[in-house]
Amino acid sequence: MSEERFLVTGAHGAIGAWVIRNLLREGIPAFLFDQEGSNHRLRMILDAEELSRLETIHGDIVDLPDLEDAIRRFEVTHLIHLAALQLPFVKADPPQGAKVNVVGTVNIFEAAKHTGLKRVVYASSTAVYGEKSEYPDVSLPHDAPLKPHSLYGVFKQANEGTARVYFLDDGISSIGLRPYVVYGPGRDQGMTSTPTKAMLAAALGKPYHITYGGRYNLQYADDVAKIFIRAARAPFEGAGVFNLGGAAVSTQEVIACIETAAPEVKDKLTFDPSPLPFPQAIDNTALRQLLGRLPETPLQQGVAETIDVFKKAIVDGKISLDYTRAIL
Ligand SMILES: NC(=O)c1ccc[n+]([C@@H]2O[C@H](COP(=O)([O-])OP(=O)(O)OC[C@H]3O[C@@H](n4cnc5c(N)ncnc54)[C@H](O)[C@@H]3O)[C@@H](O)[C@H]2O)c1
Repeated sequence: MSEERFLVTGAHGAIGAWVIRNLLREGIPAFLFDQEGSNHRLRMILDAEELSRLETIHGDIVDLPDLEDAIRRFEVTHLIHLAALQLPFVKADPPQGAKVNVVGTVNIFEAAKHTGLKRVVYASSTAVYGEKSEYPDVSLPHDAPLKPHSLYGVFKQANEGTARVYFLDDGISSIGLRPYVVYGPGRDQGMTSTPTKAMLAAALGKPYHITYGGRYNLQYADDVAKIFIRAARAPFEGAGVFNLGGAAVSTQEVIACIETAAPEVKDKLTFDPSPLPFPQAIDNTALRQLLGRLPETPLQQGVAETIDVFKKAIVDGKISLDYTRAIL
């Protein structure tokens, strides 16, 4: 039997669902911790047998005893912390955003300390950086100055500081990973989710408007999940934070890939040319030095796979009309 036992917070979310899928397919015991009752993202990407093996804890990371119970009960050896409110939700309710994203992450480290876990892997974000114009015109290294413009980014910066202090005070090592734009089945909320929504629209043969242009690192959810799992297993001492990196693409390239995979939407996809308020090129050399070669699904393949999953989910009744109405 495997000696690894993973707890994944935010396991019902877009990245969390893919982390769970990867762990299940490796045969590793994985426990899901999420406040949200609906596991619609998992239902889209897991088969019936895999769904029957899920062990889910309906819990809130703001509640420290919930977390400690889960870690003890499942004899957790590896903790991947993904639960958070994304940028628009933090903007809509900053006090709640601070509770979940700041206090919640403090609780993760506190729970690790109380239960004797010596290692945490958690999601930070590219939103810890400022705008492109605030940096030299080079691929931005992981230790470039942090100048967040949003409370979401400020809270992620606080998490990075929290991680550092728990290493200094309590010897809990951590790896923080900063995704940029994650895409793939399940990426259905957050400021940068519109490229994936365009893929869902394409699966339905419908027009769609992507809300931003410019260049950005577009990261396939399955690759991102594999990197989180690899980080959780890497021998590492300290409090490291790393850019996830990957290929930088433009929205035009994303649309071209969607049109290749679903020619029926040719000329039906449009976009706003304004770039995202972050640097356009992010460097992941430090992460590659730590983990080696990183999984990187070619964009055309990732887009085609995503549209296929959506099409199959529509046929199988796993994507309801209410869901598509709510997110498109
Ligand atoms: N998706 C991206 O492009 C992206 C980019 C940068 C950083 N991130 C970070 O990666 C992580 C995962 O992102 P995602 O796209 O999967 O997000 P998501 O919004 O799809 O999922 C987040 C999950 O966290 C859960 N959650 C929220 N509050 C909770 C609480 N109090 N207790 C327990 N669970 C709670 C939600 O129910 C949800 O299932 C987040 O920390 C996010 O900030 C994501």
